[in-house]
Amino acid sequence: MNNLLTIALSKGRIFKETLPLLAQAGIEPVDDPETSRKLILDTSQAGIKLVIIRAADVPTYVEYGAADMGVAGKDVLMEHGGNGLYEPVDLGIAKCRLMVAGPENPRSDGRRLRIATKFVRSTRRYYANRREQVEIIKLYGSMELAPLVGLSDRIVDLVDTGNTLKANGLVPLEHIADISSRLVVNKAAMKMKHDRVTQLITQLRDACGSQ
Ligand code: ATP
Ligand code: PRP
Repeated sequence: MNNLLTIALSKGRIFKETLPLLAQAGIEPVDDPETSRKLILDTSQAGIKLVIIRAADVPTYVEYGAADMGVAGKDVLMEHGGNGLYEPVDLGIAKCRLMVAGPENPRSDGRRLRIATKFVRSTRRYYANRREQVEIIKLYGSMELAPLVGLSDRIVDLVDTGNTLKANGLVPLEHIADISSRLVVNKAAMKMKHDRVTQLITQLRDACGSQ
């Protein structure tokens, strides 16, 4: 078993907000992923590397052990399902809410609602729990556009300040879940690299508790 610990992170918000927590654990990347084209980054600790991937791919890399651990939004974890993963720390970063949103004056002709979202699994579960029959349209981004051009009646998307909804004439309607980013750990790595993994879990737990 190699002695290397690999941590999967996505560029942008999660990388920026995880960086201070890693720094408190004494881990600093040698390159900046926003400017470097490298996908595997060395850190100030020879035994720890960062892999830079799309946010939605983090649970998959960690599930298959291609990364020992990673940081992923709860929204992404709810879509993935959490197979093969431990979720030991709520890092309290990248906080937002998963919400149903739509126009202020929705149509009311009794037809089945059309919901556009990239969060298909969470949306299906939400409406199933409410015993509401809806049609879900899978999109990959810019969900706010869908009701404006008649593609859907509503959207399910992440909301933080509400500025994006407001800028597009939409309003938040229903709260589905509070979202923050979690540390996820591969189950085999937790056993095979137990000491190193638990040490880092403790350090990150302390770091986010002291933010
Ligand atoms: P990609 O850029 O690869 O398509 P993405 O757009 O989902 O992925 P980010 O926008 O960096 O990636 O979001 C990463 C995570 O940050 C999301 O999974 C979510 O948990 C959280 N997040 C998304 N939008 C916001 C927001 N407006 N405010 C706070 N947290 C957010
Ligand atoms: C997210 C989300 C919303 C927006 C909400 O998009 O998909 O569009 O943030 O934030 P607000 O309530 O503060 O306006 P993001 O900025 O991550 O863009 P992306 O999905 O295109 O990456």
